[in-house]
Amino acid sequence: MSVLGLGTDIVCVERIAALVERHGARFLDRVFRPQEQRVLQRVGRAASAGLAARWAAKEAFIKALGPHAAAVSYRDVEVVRGEAGQPLMRLHGTAAAALAALGGSQALVSLSHERDHATATVILI
Ligand SMILES: CC(C)(COP(=O)(O)OP(=O)(O)OC[C@H]1O[C@@H](n2cnc3c(N)ncnc32)[C@H](O)[C@@H]1OP(=O)(O)O)[C@@H](O)C(=O)NCCC(=O)NCCS
Repeated sequence: MSVLGLGTDIVCVERIAALVERHGARFLDRVFRPQEQRVLQRVGRAASAGLAARWAAKEAFIKALGPHAAAVSYRDVEVVRGEAGQPLMRLHGTAAAALAALGGSQALVSLSHERDHATATVILI
């Protein structure tokens, strides 16, 4: 099994909070799946930080794909939680097709967030 791509991204938590504040459900539903939006139930800034980390994961996935990223919808790149709380990447439609075109079968993801910034790293195998 070989590594086919690596991507990383860092996001300002405040920028995502402002987008949610300004565009609400229109923004959320265009980018995040219902299960991802559950992080909004977290208290205070933890909600925006969790959302920002998921945004970073989508951008990291796009970076990892490189030239294969054209036409990938953010909503098709979903972050779900494993049994231990670890993030797992579940790909749909355009994202699954792009990874398959690269010859890949799985996207590994890791998230981290602090008060002001969130970051994600994605490896394609
Ligand atoms: C997992 C752990 C390293 C997170 O570190 P942290 O500095 O508190 O948090 P960070 O901001 O760096 O990272 C948070 C992200 O780590 C991820 N994470 C959570 N648990 C994880 C795990 N077991 N493995 C990998 N990633 C994990 C999540 O994606 C989380 O973001 P989210 O809650 O928005 O999805 C820390 O909680 C830990 O060491 N836990 C011990 C393992 C544990 O508790 N296991 C549960 C057994 S029931």
